[in-house]
Amino acid sequence: MSKQFDVIVIGAGPGGYIAAIRAAQLGFNVACIDEWKNTSGGPAPGGTCTNVGCIPSKALLQSSENYDQAAHHFADHGIQVQGLGLDVGRMLARKDAVVKQNNEGILYLFKKNKVAFFHGRASFARAGEGGGWEIQVGGAAEETLHGTHIIVATGSSARALPGAAFDEERILSNDGALRIGGVPRRLGLIGSGVIGLEMGSVWRRLGADVTVLEGLPTFLGAVDQQIAKEARKAFTKQGLKIELGVKVGEVQPTGEGVRIAYTDAKDAAQVLEVDRLIVSIGRVPNTTGLNAGAVGLALDERGAIVVDDECKTNLPNVWAVGDVVRGPMLAHKAEEEGVAVAEHIAGQHGHVNFNTIPWVIYTSPEIAWVGQTEEQLKAGGRAYKAGTFPFLANGRARALGDTTGMVKFLADAATDEILGVHIVGPMASELISEAVVAMEFKASAEDIARICHAHPSLSEATKEAALAVDKRTLNF
Ligand code: FAD
Ligand code: NAI
Repeated sequence: MSKQFDVIVIGAGPGGYIAAIRAAQLGFNVACIDEWKNTSGGPAPGGTCTNVGCIPSKALLQSSENYDQAAHHFADHGIQVQGLGLDVGRMLARKDAVVKQNNEGILYLFKKNKVAFFHGRASFARAGEGGGWEIQVGGAAEETLHGTHIIVATGSSARALPGAAFDEERILSNDGALRIGGVPRRLGLIGSGVIGLEMGSVWRRLGADVTVLEGLPTFLGAVDQQIAKEARKAFTKQGLKIELGVKVGEVQPTGEGVRIAYTDAKDAAQVLEVDRLIVSIGRVPNTTGLNAGAVGLALDERGAIVVDDECKTNLPNVWAVGDVVRGPMLAHKAEEEGVAVAEHIAGQHGHVNFNTIPWVIYTSPEIAWVGQTEEQLKAGGRAYKAGTFPFLANGRARALGDTTGMVKFLADAATDEILGVHIVGPMASELISEAVVAMEFKASAEDIARICHAHPSLSEATKEAALAVDKRTLNF
């Protein structure tokens, strides 16, 4: 007799563990199955985000930023540092400790919410007699569970370059990129997307000579181009070499490192020799091992599970959320979908507003945005007004010693409704929340311009950019 659950969640990344907790809050009897192992073989819930994504990358970004500040910027504040050193082992150990705290936090939350956790690989066994689904759990203890509803939240994995499999020694995915044991002298990255810029920044700050090869001719094509240009200027000044419009050819491990043959934007043959190569060219949904074919779970041409607006798959009572379905591969998007699905199962009206999902790139300066870019508004023929305000004119940014970048507002030309907010600069990751709230409430630029913002704060740049929409900044 298999164990019975109202809801079985496959995967304990941000999509899965949050769906499990919300379903338990709503009174369901919930199981969550995840196969991730820590270095001792024990469970490590939290998925890509906790183990090899958001959390460890931000830990290393912080450590490397601290080092960069001490090495290059403390002197501006009159602080003298002698004998500054770098212990990469200690830095990685701190990062691992942060990850472990998060793994343990999720296990605690499962206990608190009475979610039954199973450590192992889950696959569809068969449709249950009288409805629901039989799920096989492989691992230390083989067992079969029965769930009335199944939520698939199996996430994604790094995409490899054809002919250059990850060995995690010299050719690295995000996993290997987060545990390089010492600063490589020459680091190459393929793909100047989010991972390329964040991981490139970490190792550049620690002293590596970093070159990023990007296939597209445009830098950060999804980002508002005024913001992307400002960011590129800052990265180049820091020493990050970014080559656009390249065509990567043969990638060959050599005695000491990796040799990458490519053609540059002018079609000239080039070779890049590096000690380590990080390949960050996007991610693929995790569906192998689910036995999707046997039960007829529909996948699209990318291998993602096909879902409707409510995250329903083609199978009755089977739902899917997060990186394994369409939409941006972001932890907070996965979480919102997890909550919405649990609420749908409870007969409520869960909803994810794709127009107000914020994006953040945690480089220095940070890049954050919500809503439409100027390029998208132009392409859509929407009449808009734009307002920008530079951090150079913000008192708090000057006091921080970090005046790169700007806040940019885009508002409807007739109604003044905010259509997009784009930030490059200090703490953009935190500043963007105000814009998300404003857009959720369908605020106008004038609304933000009339709200009292604390002085001195970086958020005053947000208010001033909103004022700039009506050409009436006060401090610039
Ligand atoms: P995942 O987090 O991938 O979790 C899926 C889980 O399912 C995994 O634990 C996996 O082991 C398990 N699983 C898979 N198949 C099975 C199976 N058959 N049986 C049992 N278990 C299974 N996003 C942000 O929003 N902000 C960031 O700062 C950010 N930084 C990132 C940095 C890096 C380097 C990377 C790689 C990603 C980053 N992301 C970030 C993206 C974010 O990690 C993902 O969008 C998020 O983890 C997706 O959540 P998920 O629950 O869909 O899947
Ligand atoms: P990405 O989609 O952000 O960037 C991939 C880049 O590689 C693109 O610019 C693309 O044009 C380029 N590319 C693709 N194939 C190429 C090739 N053959 N040669 C040269 N360039 C090529 O993907 P990335 O950086 O791997 O990250 C995956 C996802 O993880 C992101 O899309 C994002 O959703 C998530 N993530 C989010 C973070 C955040 O929110 N701060 C941080 C890191 C990852």
